[in-house]
Amino acid sequence: MLKGKHIILGISGGIAAYKSASLVRLFVKAGAEVQVIITPNGKEFITPLTLSTLSGKPVISEFFTANTGQWNSHVDLGLWADAMVIAPATASTIAKMANGVADNMLITTYLSAKSQVFVAPSMDLDMMRHPSTTRNIELLRSYGNIIIEPAEGELASHLIGKGRMEEPENILKAVDSYFEKSLSLKGRKVLITAGPTFEKIDPVRFIGNYSSGKMGYAIADEAAARGAEVTLVSGPVAIKPDNASVRVVNVESASEMLDACKKYFPESDIAIMTAAVADYAPAHPLDHKIKREKTDFDTLELVKNPDIAATLGAMKSDGQILVGFALETDNELANATEKLERKNLDMIVLNSLRDKGAGFRMDTNKISICRRDGSCVAYDLKPKKLVAVDIIDAVSSL
Ligand code: PMT
Repeated sequence: MLKGKHIILGISGGIAAYKSASLVRLFVKAGAEVQVIITPNGKEFITPLTLSTLSGKPVISEFFTANTGQWNSHVDLGLWADAMVIAPATASTIAKMANGVADNMLITTYLSAKSQVFVAPSMDLDMMRHPSTTRNIELLRSYGNIIIEPAEGELASHLIGKGRMEEPENILKAVDSYFEKSLSLKGRKVLITAGPTFEKIDPVRFIGNYSSGKMGYAIADEAAARGAEVTLVSGPVAIKPDNASVRVVNVESASEMLDACKKYFPESDIAIMTAAVADYAPAHPLDHKIKREKTDFDTLELVKNPDIAATLGAMKSDGQILVGFALETDNELANATEKLERKNLDMIVLNSLRDKGAGFRMDTNKISICRRDGSCVAYDLKPKKLVAVDIIDAVSSL
């Protein structure tokens, strides 16, 4: 999987930097092109000459090459990389990454990187379990970085505990399996709905809900990152997908969302219904503004909107996978499993507004995934980007 891949290996100043030489060798042996970026402290632990000999490329450390005045562009490097691996990542480098302290070439490149970033921490056990390190690592995770957990064992201080940088072979395996996974939906067409629907009352008012689109957009980005061709049918939101390959179809009302879904579902292998669709719409939307002074308007007559997920459930043919969401406030599991059956879904993602940090507008969510065999798996509260990884993993397993 690593053949032809562009890897940036960032090395910061820790004793485990000596293992980075083996890591360069393993990447090169696997067919990858490796560009080493080392921090000034890193050079105290391993020489650039060793690393450039193994990688076949000059090692970058400074913003400028002193003798030629050549500028090392962190932006170009960030675009060049298919993956960036920071090994070893010291407490100081992790803190700078978490907080955007761009005072060396490694951090500026990290901030510019468009690719997946892997972080292999390495430090003494007390530094590792200090609340600031724990918090910074959690921040990196929330940015979507993959943390390659340090191993337990004897450390350079001769203390025994967690903090040893993972062995180069295992770091290579983590990067390799990332690329393998990134192709897991290649050739698949995925339809995703996201955001709210707005149901028009008059030209200035509507019935809507609090959905920001964050959950659905994260799922769309994750599916696209795994090679899927993604169509995202989106209600009115203020965000865009990160992945430029995602096709966005903008709609406003539930009936427009239904039309778009009916158009794209027949060609889709997978559909994931994340949108918060309004269940009712005004029966007689007006084309002029309702005036407060006119007292003839005191009741809003509503009609039931179509159930998009249930409609697709009825259209579904063999081999298509349909995933719904359930947003609940009570009787969560019972309601979710009832929707799973009634809408003919293959899987339902339950989130409850009773869970702190879950649901509308949050950057985090807490979900359970329930399947038709009656199993339900509960996940921890995590950033929506990582919730999307869990959902796409579960869908891929189908
Ligand atoms: O957008 P965010 O701010 O990130 O918030 C994310 C979210 C809370 C909106 C999302 O995680 C979520 O729970 N989405 C589903 C919201 C919802 O409408 O749930 P529901 O239990 O009412 O609907 C069940 C399923 O039927 C959903 O898949 C829904 O898309 C679908 N549905 C509902 C009504 C309807 N008329 N047509 C539908 O297709």
